[in-house]
Formats: sequence, structure tokens, C-alpha cells
Amino acid sequence: MIEAIATYIQNKLKNLHPQTLIILGSGLGALGEEIENPVYIDYKGIPSWPQSTVSGHKGRLIGGFLEGKEVLCMQGRLHLYEGHAPESIKMIMAVFKTLGIKNMIVTNAAGSLKETLSPGSLMLITDHINLSGRNPLVGINDEKFGPRFPVMGEAYDKIFQNKIRQIAQQEKIPLHEGTYLMVLGPNFETAAEIKAFQILGADAVGMSTVPEVLSAVWCGIKILGISVITNYGTGMIKEFHGHKETLEQADKAAGNLSKLVRQFVKELQNG
Ligand code: HPA
Repeated sequence: MIEAIATYIQNKLKNLHPQTLIILGSGLGALGEEIENPVYIDYKGIPSWPQSTVSGHKGRLIGGFLEGKEVLCMQGRLHLYEGHAPESIKMIMAVFKTLGIKNMIVTNAAGSLKETLSPGSLMLITDHINLSGRNPLVGINDEKFGPRFPVMGEAYDKIFQNKIRQIAQQEKIPLHEGTYLMVLGPNFETAAEIKAFQILGADAVGMSTVPEVLSAVWCGIKILGISVITNYGTGMIKEFHGHKETLEQADKAAGNLSKLVRQFVKELQNG
């Protein structure tokens, strides 16, 4: 099945052979519009592809050029809270690997767990905590793609981290760093949960990214992760937050994020 899906996508991409995958999170789809000579591949048309259902998420792949480099973009990702089977995410990552993807830039919208990490800021993900209770790697392991027991000691590529720090400095874009904690969702957290996550040592909380990262590490794709902080965690301030605020703040930070990502792609050796 993986081969068949990869063949379908490659036929649509024609002679494009991107080595870099960009996953755009909630409200961050704008970068997808900046891709040149785009080829759009709707999830709807891809055989056996899980369909995304959240508002603000378009469900398609975009192949094309960013800063002269070939890229493949997921505009609209799969969230486990939509009811997708976790192993669907492993499956699509195996498809990307089969297509020749070597690098993944994963973005998301996240809630802050730290006073100094205010809405509208960007956070380089240096590590994660998986509190989703789910894992895409559960089930039969296909050794062709990766090991039964993948190690996560350096899930987020150290060289990529240094590169993006450098770029942020050059571009004068403030870039925070920290640990991303994944919950399953779909509800936003209680104040007690936010306190608990702070005690655990996390800096931001969200409902995505970890399944893609686990799957990408498993099959040997290198990862850069960036969160757009859209709100403070429940109880940290008096204001209510919800999906609308998430989208508004994501919009604000999207410009800076797209600058960072463009420059990163431009400087990629392998891609
Ligand atoms: N919690 C979980 N997921 C999120 C949040 C949050 O506060 N903000 C954006 N995604």
C-alpha cells in the first residue's frame, strides 16, 4: 500500500523530487501559498490517505519550490483527536520516506506554560514529552523503514537547531527554545493540568507534532520543530482562550516563521 500511495503522489509531482517536507500547523497555512510552481495534491484524491477535518486546515500536499529548493508541504495535518488511528501517521511518514524525503520541518500552534513565552512568540522545539497516551509506532514493525525500538535521545537534529538559531539571530527574530508537551485533546487543558505540565518541565503544550516526530525518527528523517505560541495555558492569565485566538496569534507570528523556514530551506545542504 505504501508503494502504491508513493507512486500516486510521484506521478502527480512529475519530475519534482523534494527531499524536504514542511508540515504546516493550525493557521500557519500561509507559507504553503508562497510555494512557487506549485503542484496541488488534495488528500481527497490520494488512495487510502486519511482525511483532515479541522477548520483552518486545508487538506492537501503542495509540491514546488521555496528559495529555489524543491519542497513538499502538508497543508493540513492529521490530528489524533480527529479520530485518526495513530499508525496512519507512521504510514504517511513511510510514504514520504519512500518518496525520498530526508528532512522534515514541523510547525504547530501551542499554548505557553511559561510567563516569559508570550503569545505571538516562536519556540524552537528541543525535546518533547508524549502525554497523548498514543504512539504511531505501536503494531507490527516494518524493519525496512526503521527499528522496533527507535531511540529518541536526539529526536530534534542538533545541527538543524544550531542552523536555525544562527538564522534567527541574523534575521533579528526572537526565537525561544523549549520542550513541547503533547496532549491528545481536543479540549484545552484545565488549570490543574497546566500546573502539572509546568512541574513536569514542559514549556509549551499542544495537540500534534509528536506522532510525526516519532514516525520520522523511526524512519531516519531529520527534524526541525518550531512552535508558534498562540496563548497562555489555562489559568496563567484571566482571559479565555480558544480555537479563534489560536488562529489569530498564529497569523501574527506566521510572517516571522515563514522568514525562518525560507532561510533554513535555502541553506539546507541536503535538499
Ligand atoms: N493547549 C493545547 N493545544 C493548543 C493550545 C493550548 O493551550 N494552544 C494551541 N494549541
